Amino acid sequence: MSLEAIKFDSQRVTLEILNQLLVPYDTQYLSVGSMAPCDADTSFSGYEAIKGMYTRGAPAIMLVGCFSVVVELDRVINKNDNPFGYNKDDLAEFKAQLEKRIDLLVESRPTAVNLLNGCNEMKKIIQDKQSLKELYSGLFDFTVKLYKDDLESNYSIGANGVKYIYQELEKEGFTGEFSVMTICNTGSLATSGYGTALGIIRALHQEARSNSTRMSHVYACETRPYNQGSRLTAYELQYEKIPFTLITDNMVSFLVDSLARQKTNRSLPSTAPIKFIIVGADRIVKNGDLANKIGTFQLSLIASLYPSIKFVGAAPTTTIDFTRNTGDEIVIEQRPKRELTEIMGAAVDKDGSFVQGENGVQLQKVRMAPAGIDVWNPSFDVTPHENIDCIVTEKKYFLKKDGVFNLE
Ligand code: MRU
Repeated sequence: MSLEAIKFDSQRVTLEILNQLLVPYDTQYLSVGSMAPCDADTSFSGYEAIKGMYTRGAPAIMLVGCFSVVVELDRVINKNDNPFGYNKDDLAEFKAQLEKRIDLLVESRPTAVNLLNGCNEMKKIIQDKQSLKELYSGLFDFTVKLYKDDLESNYSIGANGVKYIYQELEKEGFTGEFSVMTICNTGSLATSGYGTALGIIRALHQEARSNSTRMSHVYACETRPYNQGSRLTAYELQYEKIPFTLITDNMVSFLVDSLARQKTNRSLPSTAPIKFIIVGADRIVKNGDLANKIGTFQLSLIASLYPSIKFVGAAPTTTIDFTRNTGDEIVIEQRPKRELTEIMGAAVDKDGSFVQGENGVQLQKVRMAPAGIDVWNPSFDVTPHENIDCIVTEKKYFLKKDGVFNLE
């Protein structure tokens, strides 16, 4: 993958994030200099990067958040740059101030649990530290390892997902080519690299080289209103040369049905039936209910009408929230109205080529609805465990026993 979402320089202790609002039109990195906004500091914060969707995807949010804590503390503790007003002479007060700022950071996006889990770990680490130096190095080591572990987790999720999928196909006696469907972006850009649901799709693509029963096509939902599917997933699939077709979110049932009934007169992109709908997660609770990008729930409803289609959730263990029992307890983030009524893209001329501005491709925001209208814009929905066939983590793949997931 050419674009790295997160660049942390462990020598200089600097953090740069890819501005995902500009992908795939432009590649710009933003420097993150603190964890949360502060009147006395002008640097761009992790909080702003996460809330403003410059970085997104549950694992990437966690990593950017935790790295931003390290960057802020490096400034304060090692570089004597303290616009945040930490009391460096009183360790207990310093810790209390730090916890308060971490709590503010966590508020940036409430549904994805990885950031909360990462920050809770940070709070535990600082408890027994006896000096600022010790506190800093504890958090530095923790975050560097978190990044490394996330990458390793993604590869394991890919391998476990492939294992499940081939076992399922064998059980069913299915041979030949099949398709999969996904929503939102769960790839390199949403994680430390490789991806979760998209990691499984990458691994399936590798497997297809040596197996005649193989994934030959991917359907990527555009994922309104933010278009993570058409902008980011399409970019990643194209880069990896994985055959795919982009669809709008409201084409799903017609496509699934057309493929299931082999309606070849509908100009289908491929005749390989959809066998798996593979999605990521922002929070999975104890019973397996799964919060993910808005639109995921309806995919699971469609899958549940077709016994030949399995619905798979993929996420690292950092996405599991063992403190909540059911999806009813998950707070669903509401996004600004403008994200639904306005869209940003690259200006194109009548031949479809990008219009160049002074600083590269000319980006343009356009409104697509009357001004001042009422809008409902939940960022996520909850797929009940009843509709989920399998949950894949880095540890293993989990199936239900008597209708119940045990994710421990
Ligand atoms: O609003 P976003 O773009 O942060 O939503 C992202 C998703 O819903 C992803 O599917 C989820 O975070 C998993 S990313 C590996």
